[in-house]
Amino acid sequence: MSFLKVEKLCLCYGEDTPENRVLEDINISINEGEFVAIVGPSGCGKSTFMKLLSGLLKPLNGCMFMNDELINSPRANVGMAFQNSIMLPWRTTLQNLLLPLEVSPSTKKTFKKRKLEYIERAKQLLATVGLAGMEEKYPWELSGGMRQRASLCRALIHKPSLLLLDEPFGALDAFTKEELWCVLRDLWQQEKFTVVLVTHDLTEAVFLADKVLVMSARPGQIIKEAEIDFERPRDLEIRYKSKFVDTVHELRDQIKSARHSLLNKDAA
Ligand SMILES: Nc1ncnc2c1ncn2[C@@H]1O[C@H](COP(=O)(O)OP(=O)(O)O)[C@@H](O)[C@H]1O
Ligand SMILES: [Mg+2]
Repeated sequence: MSFLKVEKLCLCYGEDTPENRVLEDINISINEGEFVAIVGPSGCGKSTFMKLLSGLLKPLNGCMFMNDELINSPRANVGMAFQNSIMLPWRTTLQNLLLPLEVSPSTKKTFKKRKLEYIERAKQLLATVGLAGMEEKYPWELSGGMRQRASLCRALIHKPSLLLLDEPFGALDAFTKEELWCVLRDLWQQEKFTVVLVTHDLTEAVFLADKVLVMSARPGQIIKEAEIDFERPRDLEIRYKSKFVDTVHELRDQIKSARHSLLNKDAA
């Protein structure tokens, strides 16, 4: 049985006209604990798809299931992080991590009683991502990479079974980004959640994922599913192996042709 199932999903912004279609007939099946990356040309509907998966947006047609339950509103067992995840500047790193537990309907009633346990969990997560001892620092005292590490921890504080990541490392420099790939790899190996990661970085997708889905230009459709079967644990050296390089090239070609079809459509 698949953990996450998406069937015949369509979405329009506004009236249902062909021009307004953003996603068209998306069908996906994801197993529990799987790491899936979604790549595709800019504007093809990746972020829109993530909003649908998170339950924030309703589809025009089709449906999505998590553990056989219809996704039609935001769920407690989902964690999210984005490129510009905002940390509240007047709260310390630890307080920022605890915020979802303070406000979420499923944990806020017991927050006071369980606070010590939650603080322990937050500290343990921060240690896993290399931020031990940074609990009392304010976001503005952290580097961009450190803030993204902290937002990953915040997304995982409530032990979600699904982690949704929309270009979480898009704004980081190359070295910091590579460090963060390893941080995410280790968190995933330790906590065993399911991941859907949107990225425009094909190396990132192939390094981290079990499966890469390629989306066409708008209206987005899944045009290719590539199984990535490199052994785990993977380290950064794997990027220089010829099979890895070939896989990245194949995906790049797929996206190039998806972009071409977009440009031709625009020209017509
Ligand atoms: N709230 C919105 N209202 C109308 N159009 C939107 C809205 N959000 C996104 N779009 C359009 O939908 C398309 C897909 O956007 P998005 O999902 O952000 O793409 P991606 O994340 O793949 O770059 C784009 O053409 C974008 O301009
Ligand atoms: Mg986007």
